[in-house]
Order: sequence, then structure tokens, then C-alpha cells
Amino acid sequence: MDEVEKKTAELTAALELLTQSYDDTLEALGSALELKDAETAAHFQRVAAYTISIAKTVPVSREYLEVLARAAFLHDTGKMAIPDKILRKPGPLDDSEKLIMRTHCEIGYNMLTRIPFLREAADIVLAHHEFFDGTGYPRGLRGEQIPLGARIMLIANSLDSMLSDWPYHNALPVSHAREEIRRCAGTQFDPKIVEVFLSIPESHWILLRENIGSPLRLTHLKNMGLVPE
Ligand SMILES: [Fe+2]
Ligand SMILES: [Fe+2]
Repeated sequence: MDEVEKKTAELTAALELLTQSYDDTLEALGSALELKDAETAAHFQRVAAYTISIAKTVPVSREYLEVLARAAFLHDTGKMAIPDKILRKPGPLDDSEKLIMRTHCEIGYNMLTRIPFLREAADIVLAHHEFFDGTGYPRGLRGEQIPLGARIMLIANSLDSMLSDWPYHNALPVSHAREEIRRCAGTQFDPKIVEVFLSIPESHWILLRENIGSPLRLTHLKNMGLVPE
């Protein structure tokens, strides 16, 4: 091995170690929110897994996939600052409560953007409730102004929401959730990503949902073969 090769190998090993400690840091952030709301932590893990599945089918680069996995895992971090009486309200929120709830995008962004290795993920977190037709929040971005990762994550986030039981609505079967996502192509969702999503068989989501549970860690998620057949 020549000197350059040796140095490169050393650098790669050091970078791998560094990435591992980064992921440990963000898992610590994730568990801080888990203390507040255990259901939210399970939601982070599922949204991360669904986001990875869709992103791999798009496909995106390996580097972007990692940014996206971190963003998905941390997308609702800003909810740490939302009062419990709103976060855990057993019914729909009124208008003033909705306004407070919506601030979780900026709060999450402000927390994460200060951490250099999470800066790109922070941009996706800020945009995770933007709609393709410009009717989302916080900035009312439209179409390709919305980062690709946020357009992918919006579908993953809605899918998980529809497949879950809530205090005021029951979980939908995967076939209904798929139809609903198809119906909202071009309004909420990027039609091109909807097409990618619909190319993934129903059985993939059923299997994935059954096999995800605490204490699955982010690093395991990334190593799992989440590519659909
Ligand atoms: Fe959110
Ligand atoms: Fe969410």
C-alpha cells in the first residue's frame, strides 16, 4: 500500500468513526423527545424507514440518503417545545392551537441548523409540511422550490399518519392510504414522487410496518435492505 492509499484508508476509517458518533448524537436527540412522547419516537423511526424506501426507489445518491435519513429521524424535533396540552390533546386542534403547533418546523430548524453536520437535514426539516401547490407551511413554497427530501418525506409522513390509530381516527388499510396519496398528487404531493411511491408494492409497507419497532436504531435502519423488490 503506498502512502496516499494508506492516508486515504486512515481518513476513511476516521470519517466512519465520526459518522457513528454523529448518529449517536442524533439518536440522543431522538430519545430526548421520546421521554416527552413515546408514540412520537416510534413515528420518527417509521417515517425514516418509509422515507428511505421511497428515496432508494427514486433513486437518490448515498450521501443524500444519509442526510434524508437524519432529517426524517429528526423531522418533529421542534415538538419538544410545544406545550403538552396541545401535543397530547385528544381531539382536533382549534385555530390558535394549530398556529402554535405549526411553529415546530422553525423551532426544529433553529435547533438543528446550529449543528454543522445537520445543516442540510435542517433545511429538509424546515420544509417538511410544505405542499406541492404552495398551500403548505411555514413558507408556502411550491413545486421544486421545496427540497426533494421534503417532498419525499411528506409522503412518508402522511403514509404513517394514515396507517396509525389516533385519538380521533382509526388506522386505514394500506390500500386506502395509497389511494389517498394518489388522489393528492399535484396538490399536496409531487406527482413524480407519487408515481415512484405507487410503484412500490403494498406488501412492502405491510412488511416494513410489522418489522419496525423500538429499540430499532438509526444505524440498523440504514443497514437494513429496505429496497423493495
Ligand atoms: Fe411535523
Ligand atoms: Fe411527523
